[in-house]
Amino acid sequence: MTPKGKSGMKAKKTAKKNLPGARMVDPKKIERIAILTGGGDCPGLNAVIRAVVRAAVNLYGWDVTGILDGYDGLIGGHVRKLTSKDVRGLQVRGGTILGTSNRGNPLRYPVEENGCIVFRDVTDKILTNIRKLKIDVLIAVGGDGTMKIADALFEKGVPVMGIPKTIDNDLGATDVTFGYNSAVSTATEALDKLHTTAESHHRVLVLEVMGRECGWIALESGIAGGADVILIPEIPFDMNEVCRHISQRKKTGSRFSIVVVAEGAFPGGGRKMYEKEPGPDGLPGRLGGIGHRAAEQIGMCTGIETRTAVLGHLQRGGTPTTYDRILATRFGVEAVNHIAEGHFGHMVCLQGRSIVCRRIKQAVKKLKLVDPDGQLVRTAEALGITLGRRD
Ligand code: F6P
Repeated sequence: MTPKGKSGMKAKKTAKKNLPGARMVDPKKIERIAILTGGGDCPGLNAVIRAVVRAAVNLYGWDVTGILDGYDGLIGGHVRKLTSKDVRGLQVRGGTILGTSNRGNPLRYPVEENGCIVFRDVTDKILTNIRKLKIDVLIAVGGDGTMKIADALFEKGVPVMGIPKTIDNDLGATDVTFGYNSAVSTATEALDKLHTTAESHHRVLVLEVMGRECGWIALESGIAGGADVILIPEIPFDMNEVCRHISQRKKTGSRFSIVVVAEGAFPGGGRKMYEKEPGPDGLPGRLGGIGHRAAEQIGMCTGIETRTAVLGHLQRGGTPTTYDRILATRFGVEAVNHIAEGHFGHMVCLQGRSIVCRRIKQAVKKLKLVDPDGQLVRTAEALGITLGRRD
């Protein structure tokens, strides 16, 4: 097939160099690509689906198959066709029309055998279904976990392309993941609202936000929303320092304080708090409770009435911001262009102002954590915000 769309539009002609490590599949023979969304949902997933479908159809004339519920859909063969009409207007809609799952890892999939649940590698089922469904290339949209599975499939010979998303913004190879900007805007808006009620009632208000391993949402929303205390997983905190800071504010006439705490933050010498501990099933466990624990201790130590709000899944829902719509759309279009150039086992990334393509294996090697001594933390501290560091 010539790189010319069914719609008659001329294909974008790019002459990028073949990337190191790329496994070649003759792009001229591609007829159908598939897309799945894996891991926790986030704003911008539908925008990326729309961009992939439009670029695949308009630029290259490919068919697009949507895989339902992440890798589960590939294991069970649950799919739907995606046409340009199916994705009309999707850029504004939160969630994912394909469904997602952050539970079914095909490399360690729970199956029932003799009445017991055991964990098996079911990637062979995926390879069979990919053949049956005549999928030439698979696009996996997701975070760390989804990318690692995509890379394992690539190692087994599946031509894959990754697109990074997560509200946590913790993927090393890309400056930003889409979903993050929307989540951090939601958290900032919540802080703005908590501010007025905290001030009126002379209370301390603690906002617990998401962030298992990294504190990007807490730190940036805290700076934007005028927090007094920001607690992140990268800097184990000292509760005495937090209480000292809040009491000092009171002494100098500020009778209220705002605290933002990432769900994965923990005190020095202590551990993360779980609502549901990680189990033997290999699932990561459900973090939660640090906001309430911090509020209890602050209230007792300072004598100021202290309340907690847990933002939870509000951060993952709703309409994507303009920034996330644009980033998701650029990722989608460039992922399709890279496929047309025969680049597989790669993930699109934002580096500076450009969308580039990097090997998935390299891209997921290291989580992008907040640097405890970096510029952003120093910016917060310059404003008088404490991160609860022990002196
Ligand atoms: O990885 C994204 C994320 O939102 C984390 O910040 C959070 O800990 C997790 O997902 C929550 O997942 P679930 O909705 O499955 O509890």
